[in-house]
This record gives sequence, structure tokens and C-alpha cells, in this order.
Amino acid sequence: MTQARVRALRSIEIGVTNLVVAQDFYTRVWGLTPVEEANGVHYLRGTGRFRHILSLRRLAQAALVRIVFDAGDPGAVDALHAQLIAHGVAASEAPRPLNNPGGGYGFGFKDLEQRNLAIVCDVEDHARALDDPDRPTKLSHVNLNSASNDATSQLLIQALGFSLSDHNDKFRFLRCNADHHSLVLGFNEDATLNHIAFEMPDLDAVMRGAGRLRDHGYPIEWGPGRHGPGRNVFCYFCGPEEMPIEYTSEMQQVDDGYRPGSPADWKWPPRRVDRWGLSDPPTRRVLRAQSLFRFTPDAYRLDSFSSPASGAGGFQVCAQAGDRPQLTFLSRFFC
Ligand SMILES: [Fe+2]
Repeated sequence: MTQARVRALRSIEIGVTNLVVAQDFYTRVWGLTPVEEANGVHYLRGTGRFRHILSLRRLAQAALVRIVFDAGDPGAVDALHAQLIAHGVAASEAPRPLNNPGGGYGFGFKDLEQRNLAIVCDVEDHARALDDPDRPTKLSHVNLNSASNDATSQLLIQALGFSLSDHNDKFRFLRCNADHHSLVLGFNEDATLNHIAFEMPDLDAVMRGAGRLRDHGYPIEWGPGRHGPGRNVFCYFCGPEEMPIEYTSEMQQVDDGYRPGSPADWKWPPRRVDRWGLSDPPTRRVLRAQSLFRFTPDAYRLDSFSSPASGAGGFQVCAQAGDRPQLTFLSRFFC
């Protein structure tokens, strides 16, 4: 039988302590557009057709709520659910019609490292894309730290149909469509968030966006530069409550003929951290932010929610913007 596959990274939901500040930042500064609010959750779209790509809710501590993937139809959703159960995933609700804004059909589950993930289809998306050269189009990828990279990668590949695009000494890059990667899994000690990346229309949009962020008091924490695996352009920032976020563009498009690289293929010359040789290393501030945020402990059911456990996520006094460590101190948190 043909393996069912997710076909896109659709959206991410995050919890913040100050919803007013976050809503203002992700709309007026970051460039998303409000769609609707329901049950205290604010839904924001990019210029692409997905109904929303980011949703915000207020929590006692900042945290990740869930990552949502798109599937082709109810049959694919059912098959993906069966593949997850066959792979040993125990914490999963049954596929069902959804009551969330946009409706659709799907289910939520926890992966092997207790992340809240969901698969949906038939969501009532927008009839047309917006035409705006300065706003994010969609989620590009989510980078997740992982203490069980081998097992989690196998789950994503065998149960959700992801393919390995590349592998270096810090990350595995996984794709579910022509984009070189939609998920990145780190080799770490914990299952926290590394960063959330939003696709911009082109390189100029990344650069103009970086200028807009700087104008509003959010300095560039890493970049501009061009990554190795994926060849995408990048600029990293710390958003409200230190959320690590990236503007990116020009993601490499690949197909089944792409040969995955290995760590030996992705060695940088001394002191270089991007293809151009232009970028300084990431700041201490963003390196620290790239391990702050956890998933809420029991929010995998799509219609349910409870507060995160004590100590989950949150932010504290941060390092000074622009404070960059020596290259020799840089860890496994950037690619
Ligand atoms: Fe990234």
C-alpha cells in the first residue's frame, strides 16, 4: 500500500503572556494579517492561501501550543493516523470533523518527545493570495531541538512521509514537498523550540523586513546570510518574549532525485557561518532564545487546552542585543 504523506507545514500556535504586544508585533511589525478571533485565540494569515499560519493565545508563560500539518483529503488523514498508531504513537485523538475556525477534518497527537502536532485537511482557506511584497507568504519551516533525533526522524519519515534532504553535524533537514525543508531536527538534549521561520517573497523582502524590524527596536540577531543546507537567505530576530523567529526566502526546491548531504558535505571554512561569508555569528541572545520554549504538556487535542506546566517556556532577562560570542563558543544551535 502507498504510504500516506503530509503535504505541507500549515500553521503554528504559540502562547504568550502579553497578547496585546504580541498581536501588535506580528501584525504591524512582522507583517501578518488578522483573520479572526475565537475563544481567546487570535488567528493571523500570511499572503498565501492558508486560512492562518500563526495563532496566538494568552498563557501564564510563553510556550508552543502545537504545529499543524496539511494533508490532501480525509482519506490521507485517516491513513496518516493509522500509520502513527502502527508506529507506536499512543497519545492521539481519532480523526474527526473540526470545530476550529475554518473547520476541516483532522486530529492532534503527541510525538515521541511530547510535542503537540496535528494533521488537518479540508480547511476553508482563502480564495486567493494577497499581493504584498513586504509580508510573509507562509511558514517556511520550524526548527526543533531534539534529544531523540534518530527516533523522531524515523517517526516523521515512516509515519508522516517526510524525506531526508540533508544532514549535518547539528541538524537533520526534512521535507514534505518541494521545499528543501519544512522541519529541522537538532541533535540536542531537550525537545525545545529552536526557531520558527516565515517565508518572505524574495531577498529584497527579507532585507526590507530586517530594516522594518530594526526601525521598531528589534535588531538582527543573526544575518543577513545564506544557509548551507537549503541555500535559503536568512535574518534572525528575537520577537516578543524572546521568541526566536526568522525571515527567509529562496528556499531550494528539490525532488526525489535530490541526494541528501552528510556532515562531510557541510563543513564551513574557519570563521565562516554562511555561504556568503558575510554574516557575523549569531548573538548570545538568540542562541539563548533557541532553547527557551517548550510545548504545552497536554494540548494535543485540537479542541482542548490547559495551561503549561510550571517551568515550561517563559522568558527571562536576556543578553544584550548584538552581544556575539566567539566562534569557538558557538554550539549546536545554528546551521
Ligand atoms: Fe531556519
